Amino acid sequence: MSFSVDVLAGIAIQLQSGVGHQDRFQRLITTLRQVLECDASALLRYDARQFIPLAIDGLAQDVLGRRFTLEGHPRLEAIARAGDVVRFPADSDLPDPYDGLIPGQESLKVHACVGLPLFAGQNLIGALTLDAMEPEQFDVFSDEELRLISALAAGALSNALLIEQLESQNMLPGAPAAFEPVANTDMIGLSPNMMQLKKEIEIVAASDLNVLISGETGTGKELVAKSIHEGSPRAANPLVYLNCAALPESVAESELFGHVKGAFTGAISNRSGKFEMADNGTLFLDEIGELSLALQAKLLRVLQYGDIQRVGDDRSLRVDVRVLAATNRDLREEVLAGRFRADLFHRLSVFPLSVPPLRERGDDVVLLAGYFCEQCRLRLGLSRVILSSGARAHLLSYGWPGNVRELEHAVHRAVVLARATRSGGEVILEAQHFAFEESVVAPVQESEAPALPACHNLRDATEHFQREMIRQALSQNNNNWAASARALETDVANLHRLAKRLGMKD
Ligand SMILES: Nc1ncnc2c1ncn2[C@@H]1O[C@H](COP(=O)(O)OP(=O)(O)OP(=O)(O)O)[C@@H](O)[C@H]1O
Ligand SMILES: [Mg+2]
Repeated sequence: MSFSVDVLAGIAIQLQSGVGHQDRFQRLITTLRQVLECDASALLRYDARQFIPLAIDGLAQDVLGRRFTLEGHPRLEAIARAGDVVRFPADSDLPDPYDGLIPGQESLKVHACVGLPLFAGQNLIGALTLDAMEPEQFDVFSDEELRLISALAAGALSNALLIEQLESQNMLPGAPAAFEPVANTDMIGLSPNMMQLKKEIEIVAASDLNVLISGETGTGKELVAKSIHEGSPRAANPLVYLNCAALPESVAESELFGHVKGAFTGAISNRSGKFEMADNGTLFLDEIGELSLALQAKLLRVLQYGDIQRVGDDRSLRVDVRVLAATNRDLREEVLAGRFRADLFHRLSVFPLSVPPLRERGDDVVLLAGYFCEQCRLRLGLSRVILSSGARAHLLSYGWPGNVRELEHAVHRAVVLARATRSGGEVILEAQHFAFEESVVAPVQESEAPALPACHNLRDATEHFQREMIRQALSQNNNNWAASARALETDVANLHRLAKRLGMKD
């Protein structure tokens, strides 16, 4: 035995202490790293044919946002299939999902790799992966020893999943779920703002309240609507989508409520509207702020009385529909300006949800970038898509006015750009592949724009420009970082990070 009883007891104790699942999992893999002397380890949850990282150690942060499908990762597929400890030979030609994701070793390939599947009874619930640069690193540990470790980890994970399930069924009082709830719609993000939003979604999903989802463009309002529906008792029934902005006034009423044959020219048959289609389910009214006052009145009626009338029909139909509405306008202001009915606003916003802009989600930018890298990798059939540390710093320093959608597009564009200049299936994204966004970081009037020295490349020029902008903002704001961040329309944490990277502070 190369482990002492003390070591195993230590691991068991780590799994009992800690303030939440997340914290426990983190302690577990940090301990494993020390005990097994591996260079990287990860605890993954298994769900719907993919592995979802719960805690990582020695790996790039964006791994936490990546989703590893069995189809796209033959090594993980082998672990899922094995039912026992898997030792990959150092010369295995199955690509390691973490190759290039060990910080500081981007160009190095992982050598020793062990996978431990985690079971609850017969069910695969997760995996532990251990990686090392040294090919013989894990040879000293016997299969029995590694099995002991997976048994400990499996017990902890299975407990955590069970508790989470009980909590989401409101069977346990108190404590919010400590890690991402199991849902079909995957919402990437672990920042406090996103954890708060997920908690609110979980609470409101279980109720039957109408919800008004507000947030800037591209923040994920539609995704929020989907997860509310999926978490609700109506999940088995349809979620019907209607974009109010794309509705010409002439057809809007018929779209919402349907019409009978002959109701107007062109009404050649009876047709049901979105409310009927969503009966017993959920109706998602996107861009609700664009609805005309006349239709607002009709919508209010349905919400009040639960019945609808098809255009051209005097009879009314009862429907049971939950309405979720989304807007990127400030509806309160619209009400004040007389463009939105106050009574409808109050009906819809019984439970208002506000989706935070990306710039207020801290490191989630990196997690989301990892998520989109993995998507691109699969879509374009690449073996690896890696974010360099420069690219990561860049993503964190930018303000993302177009939010998650802008990030999604930026990553796709960067992958395409980077691929064009490389041969082989491996792509490393550098800051300059995101150069387009850089040019709109902080638009300034020409006269204020700092003069550029003769820089050799785009990155130097960009960094020089950023340094000048920050210096200017600081001097105009008495060296107050928070005020400077506001002036630059960026998050103060991001500004500190950027300044650090630019060597302006330590
Ligand atoms: N937390 C998240 N995790 C993963 N993907 C996300 C997340 N948030 C948004 N996305 C993705 O970003 C894109 C934009 O999201 P979505 O369409 O929901 O935004 P929106 O707020 O409805 O935007 P708009 O106001 O322009 O309609 C989608 O592709 C969505 O899947
Ligand atoms: Mg939308």
